[in-house]
Amino acid sequence: MPRLFIYVGLILLLCLLIPPAVIARVRVTPNSNLPVHFIQDMDFQSKFKAQSVNPLFADRRAVRPPVDSTVARGETYVDAYFYDGVVGGQWATTLPPQIPLTMATLQRGQQRFNIYCSVCHGETGAGDGSVNQKAMELVANTNGPVNGTVWVQAKNLVHDETVSVQPVGQLFNTITNGIRNMAGYGSQIPVADRWAIAAYVKSLQRSQNAHPSDVPAGVTLAEAK
Ligand code: HEC
Repeated sequence: MPRLFIYVGLILLLCLLIPPAVIARVRVTPNSNLPVHFIQDMDFQSKFKAQSVNPLFADRRAVRPPVDSTVARGETYVDAYFYDGVVGGQWATTLPPQIPLTMATLQRGQQRFNIYCSVCHGETGAGDGSVNQKAMELVANTNGPVNGTVWVQAKNLVHDETVSVQPVGQLFNTITNGIRNMAGYGSQIPVADRWAIAAYVKSLQRSQNAHPSDVPAGVTLAEAK
């Protein structure tokens, strides 16, 4: 075979490397043009983005405010007992009729409490959750704010008398809206679960504040322990 063929063949082989090299280069080079889009799927469709202009309306807003005096479906929060924990202007002292006081409710409350609250308040409600411990340690070791923030001790829910006397409706409200340095959980925890947690906090308090009179007649204190 003449040498020329071999040289030409080699050059052609080298040329084969050009397309992948070009593709690789283009892939990493920023380009203000939109990419070529062969399969359109639903990427492009006529719609109004939030805060954009819609000339159809006099105020030219695409996002429409709710019509006056209307209530969106599923947003009739008129039951103050169920949604706010308030009965006749006072904190509710019992669970609303929608929430039966059953073992299942308390167990649900326990499970949700351990998920959402125990990190700060501890599983027994003593205010010694792992996040709280770590934060207190950090603050103690650095003698002051960490990354510009201080930490407020999570309350002891069972032995702090300002909390243990609170009606269940007030606990429900604290879970919903938060209080002082504690954030609210209204957007993360559904209403029924918030009641279950409040009921469980009550049961934690009850179980850790037993009185000799709770011991059934005929049983000595030592036996009850
Ligand atoms: C990120 C930590 C954190 C989590 C999680 C948390 N709390 Fe708290 N909680 C606090 C702190 C801190 C306080 C004290 C706030 C203050 O005094 O400024 C507090 C206070 C409270 C109080 C006392 C309110 C009062 O009237 O003084 C209750 C009741 C309470 N929390 C219940 C809960 C329940 C129930 C949950 C779970 C849904 C929960 N907390 C989750 C940090 C937390």
